[in-house]
Amino acid sequence: MDKKNRSTFPHDFLWGGSISAHQTEGGWEEDGKGPGIMDFVTTGSYQVPRQITKEIDTTKSYPSHNAIDFYHRYKEDIALFAEMGFTALRISIDWSRIYPTGEEREPNQKGIKFYKDVIDTIKSYGIEPIVTLYHFEMPIHLVKKYGAWENRKVIELYLRFCETMFKALKGKVYYWVTSNEMNHLDPQTEMSDIFTYMLTGHKYSELKDKKQSLATMGYNLALSGVMAAALGRKIDSRNKIGCVFGLTPMYPYDCNPTNVMDNFKEMERDFYQIDAMCNGKFPEYKLHEYTLAGINIDMLEEDKLAFKEGILDFIGINYYSSSVTKSNANADDDKAMFGGIQNPFLEKSKWGWSIDPIGLRYLLNYVYRRYGLPLMVTENGLGAVDQLEENNKINDDYRINYFEQHLKTLKKAILEDGIKCLGYLTWAPIDLVSASTGEMNKRYGFIHVNRDDDGSGDFSRIKKESFYWYKEVIETNGIDI
Ligand code: BG6
Repeated sequence: MDKKNRSTFPHDFLWGGSISAHQTEGGWEEDGKGPGIMDFVTTGSYQVPRQITKEIDTTKSYPSHNAIDFYHRYKEDIALFAEMGFTALRISIDWSRIYPTGEEREPNQKGIKFYKDVIDTIKSYGIEPIVTLYHFEMPIHLVKKYGAWENRKVIELYLRFCETMFKALKGKVYYWVTSNEMNHLDPQTEMSDIFTYMLTGHKYSELKDKKQSLATMGYNLALSGVMAAALGRKIDSRNKIGCVFGLTPMYPYDCNPTNVMDNFKEMERDFYQIDAMCNGKFPEYKLHEYTLAGINIDMLEEDKLAFKEGILDFIGINYYSSSVTKSNANADDDKAMFGGIQNPFLEKSKWGWSIDPIGLRYLLNYVYRRYGLPLMVTENGLGAVDQLEENNKINDDYRINYFEQHLKTLKKAILEDGIKCLGYLTWAPIDLVSASTGEMNKRYGFIHVNRDDDGSGDFSRIKKESFYWYKEVIETNGIDI
């Protein structure tokens, strides 16, 4: 590129990464934390699904119990993020660390202290904290007693937790995320047990009335989000409250209008809650769909006001992959991870996730033009098997290449298409426990963690080649991208 025309990302662009509590912290029984839903999920792999147990089975391994020991090592990890030049870091607060059963009147002060310390450490480097309030971390008690998001009582308890955190971190945190990826909850979607469980505390196969349950939980989660947004802004008008959605652009298999129409419907499934949280009302088209399907939504008069008052300030997008819709796909079609089939034009990761940098630009345009709200790329990254070479070197050029390609299209989206994007957060800046498989072997980080799926390893951290690459990108504000 001509030197003169070399451009950077916007001067106030946030560069950083995202992590979640249950995938990093460990310390699952420390300082008064109660058991959360993910504490009952075993290590699996691409071929072996994670098991969800009712009680802790001491013969099995539960990766959240130790995770990557961030609970004890956050100072070291945040220092490494600062060394890369991060200007933003997204973490989540584990609800079960603050309210061990979810029902206490008073929060667990040790839990609050932990997060205050983490946030203070983040801020001591001039990094902007972005805090997710629900990233699959519900106290298990709320599932057992109330059926989790199926019950409106849980919205009330979630808001109690949110209020506690808005107040505890007032003046320190200004970017909040009400929840992570609830958009997968849709009555039309046939879900895996693990994905349904992460979002709701229930296995898909055990839901008695699947369509009704998914619709109720999807509605209650969207409602809880707008209520949290209004509450957070009431507590501090400087707060910017968003929600994070895991979005998969869908492409029709061909120009057969049937495929195109089915594709439109597939893609739209992810958007009804974004519509609800950004347009000031729960969408009529969805209610119509529910009526036809015999689904009843218990919508109160006051909910309408909540949707009006709780419009989001920004939309977080987790982007990993696109997919293809083929009406009447058959057994020979290579199925993709989140529904649809594989795209023959794209390569895929070892875990079957197609790699599609253009999909990111497409998606950002799609969402920005639909809502006109600022966006933030809250997750993007490549899960891969890394090789630890001699002298503790990890040459992850495939990861660098992945990020480079995605950042190129992001830059085009911002500079050429005029998309307002607040920042780019990788998933994840440090190796952590995979949510879908429970593995450590599916590594995402710029920082290697010495921990293996058999529980071996001393948790020490090693910088990968990508660490130095990302540092340079941030230092130069992406001028060479
Ligand atoms: C997102 C989640 O869906 O994808 C993260 O927000 C998750 O929690 C990430 O880790 C990557 O998925 P996985 O299954 O590879 O960990």
